[in-house]
Amino acid sequence: MNGQASRIIQLSRMAGRENNLPASKIISVCSGKGGTGKSFFAANFAYTLARSGKKVLLIDFDLNFSNLNILLNKTTDNFLSEFFEKKKSLEELVFSYSSNLHFIFGDSGREDHPHVNRDLIDYFFIALDRLAAKYDYFILDSAAGSDELTLYQLSKSNFNILLTSPEPTAIMDAYAVIKLLKNEGSSANDLVVLNKCSCAEEAKNSFSNLSMASKHFLGIEPNFLGWISFSNAIHQSILNQELYLRSTPQSRTAEEISSIAERFESIATWLIMTKDAAETV
Ligand SMILES: Nc1ncnc2c1ncn2[C@@H]1O[C@H](COP(=O)(O)OP(=O)(O)O)[C@@H](O)[C@H]1O
Ligand SMILES: [Mg+2]
Repeated sequence: MNGQASRIIQLSRMAGRENNLPASKIISVCSGKGGTGKSFFAANFAYTLARSGKKVLLIDFDLNFSNLNILLNKTTDNFLSEFFEKKKSLEELVFSYSSNLHFIFGDSGREDHPHVNRDLIDYFFIALDRLAAKYDYFILDSAAGSDELTLYQLSKSNFNILLTSPEPTAIMDAYAVIKLLKNEGSSANDLVVLNKCSCAEEAKNSFSNLSMASKHFLGIEPNFLGWISFSNAIHQSILNQELYLRSTPQSRTAEEISSIAERFESIATWLIMTKDAAETV
């Protein structure tokens, strides 16, 4: 970390501005294991919010294992690592997909990828703060798992959308993430999406098992945001490197993700209202 960056972090910590974004801004999409559909969901959820008029910046935060650009078949010369190397600002890295939907892509497999530590994550959140006026939502497509840095990033987000599937093993992984986040001191809201489901009942039963365990053992009740059916067409869209909902706006998956986005927005609005009310008391 160079001197200027550490001074910025120090000053903003002293001023209490660290992660002082409005209550609904930063959404991290996370999971216990890889392959749960985080990148697929993050891209299509961002697209759905953008289509409903929100300005969204989706950032590939799976550091050095990034693949959003491949998922979307887009090429760029600008990668998030350059921000961590202090070569470029976040703004300089933005790829404009449409007027409402912007991306920042990441690198994959770089041997000299910058070592990202907690200070650099703080530095990143401060830089997001500077872009706050331009966007309604920042979505971070996060790394799977629970390494120290990922937990730190998740604990600084306003919302964590935890993507899991109905198998008991995946539910156990989701429970582990909620538990580790609690131990990390996270105050983020934990929201759960059940992906790759066969029916609504399966999704609801699996969520209920997760919710009962976290309530009983952790005293935390995660919110159920919704569920997404297993669909071979999604698999095909990834092979075709296309944004699924762009080519299939009338599909069942589009309806499922739209209702997740609506539920998310009503939870976010409610939290802003309660935060504003608490501040005026
Ligand atoms: N609802 C779904 N139905 C069928 N396949 C899915 C679904 N969601 C994701 N997938 C598949 O899961 C795989 C992993 O998705 P991806 O978004 O890359 O996961 P992650 O980012 O969590 O590692 C993809 O190959 C995709 O085809
Ligand atoms: Mg991914």
